[in-house]
Amino acid sequence: MSNFEAIEIPKIDKSWRAFVQSFRQPKPVIQKIEKEPIWKSRYISLTKPEEILTLVDVGYKAEEINQYAGKKDDTLYLSKFRFLNEEGIEKLLAVTNQLEKLVVPSSYIVGHWLRGVEKYSQFICDMMRDRKFLKELSQMVGVSLISHPIQDAAVVLNKLIASPKKLDNKDNLAAWHLDGMNYVFIILLSEPRMFEGGELIYYRKHKNLFPNRVSSSDRAIHTINLEKPGDTIFMRGSHLYHAVRPLISGERKTLILSFFCPPLAEFDSNTFWHLAPADGLIPTLENWIKFKWSFH
Ligand SMILES: [Fe+2]
Repeated sequence: MSNFEAIEIPKIDKSWRAFVQSFRQPKPVIQKIEKEPIWKSRYISLTKPEEILTLVDVGYKAEEINQYAGKKDDTLYLSKFRFLNEEGIEKLLAVTNQLEKLVVPSSYIVGHWLRGVEKYSQFICDMMRDRKFLKELSQMVGVSLISHPIQDAAVVLNKLIASPKKLDNKDNLAAWHLDGMNYVFIILLSEPRMFEGGELIYYRKHKNLFPNRVSSSDRAIHTINLEKPGDTIFMRGSHLYHAVRPLISGERKTLILSFFCPPLAEFDSNTFWHLAPADGLIPTLENWIKFKWSFH
């Protein structure tokens, strides 16, 4: 194990800081990016993941798994796959390269991010609503998915920038956390040869067995191998602790797509206090009320 792998990654701090943070978020200026390509359904080309983990595989009990219309909502993790062909990835990267200029510093989970990406990019907005896209992703996960109705949280561009003097600095890593979202796809956007470190890792046990302090040599820690831009994984973000190891050099960008299953609306894991530190108190109040009125 190299030095940086041995660094103990902290668990996210969700104390009163989250409350204070919710007052601090500036209201973003929303403007669609210019000259982006037009989304086309023919870009969709799904490959099969090599590994599929279910909730039961890591110790969740049968009674913790929801069902509807004969469908079991038990997919926990899908290892690396691709969902766009080469042309589609090229277009997506052209879009995210423009979006990158709009990222803002964050003191929450990652160093820099852009939330509510659908508001800035018609390409990504159209992709997230494409019937073929939703159908194929839903088939992979096993339940019906739509783009998450809380648009500020549905698509997020994350960016880590290496600051080698402070390997355990929040700008350099993502602390161990659970997502508010149930159905999360993580897409690598950067060329892996352009950065060092920054591996995505997860804790392969029931979320209730996650310790307060995780030793870097804990055998439940698994490293996800993403090899090129466009490589994607799925995880039940709300049920699987995950983190990003310190970035040693370069910059690392990922696009996070979060989905919602309308027949299982009552089991959506989002909480107000997970969203408020990210989007600000007032915008979250508005988003939350609309969401709850529509689906509950
Ligand atoms: Fe996450």
